[in-house]
Amino acid sequence: MINSYELLIEGILQNGYAYIDDFLPTNDIEGLAAILRSRYAEGEFQAAGIGKTDYHQQDKTIRGDSILWLEPETDIALEQKYLGQIADFIQYLNRTCYTGLQGCELHYALYPIGAFYKRHVDRFVNDESRQYSIILYLNKDWAETDGGHLLLHLDNGRQEYILPKAGRLVCFPSHLIPHEVLMAKRERLSLTGWLKK
Ligand code: OGA
Ligand code: MN
Repeated sequence: MINSYELLIEGILQNGYAYIDDFLPTNDIEGLAAILRSRYAEGEFQAAGIGKTDYHQQDKTIRGDSILWLEPETDIALEQKYLGQIADFIQYLNRTCYTGLQGCELHYALYPIGAFYKRHVDRFVNDESRQYSIILYLNKDWAETDGGHLLLHLDNGRQEYILPKAGRLVCFPSHLIPHEVLMAKRERLSLTGWLKK
């Protein structure tokens, strides 16, 4: 994984954000998508909230996804594996970049057809613990015409559209980059999280 970590760090230093493909083997991505779908079908997800200090407000005109937080003590093997990989990335960042990260929080997200998430920044006003946003996409055969791009609003009006393709992992500093999720024309699956101080 060290090479992927270096690519992510280089990208963030040079461009302010980074993404890499094939962060996990296809089997793991498909396995995580299957777990997401079955836990969604079991009714374990909740409509995602919005709000400057917490997630208790819900407003589908701002964000239409449903989420489920990963438990650090999960007994689902693939969830353990992904949590372990993120923990490994955190160690690497702390060792090589002195980031002082303490841990992470991760949730599954499902955007039904027609859902989006309007422009926002990931850090709360009264809580600066979120340092890096990290999103892994689980969408096999996602095409440009399926929409659902992650749109990053960068410096000087620059914009970057990122397709939520299976195995792609995006990372950017949580407080710096306003971003949005464009309307998905297919069900859109991801594992989204934050590396925290
Ligand atoms: C979020 C978010 C982006 C994406 O959940 O805060 O911005 O591409 N997600 O899913
Ligand atoms: Mn976000």
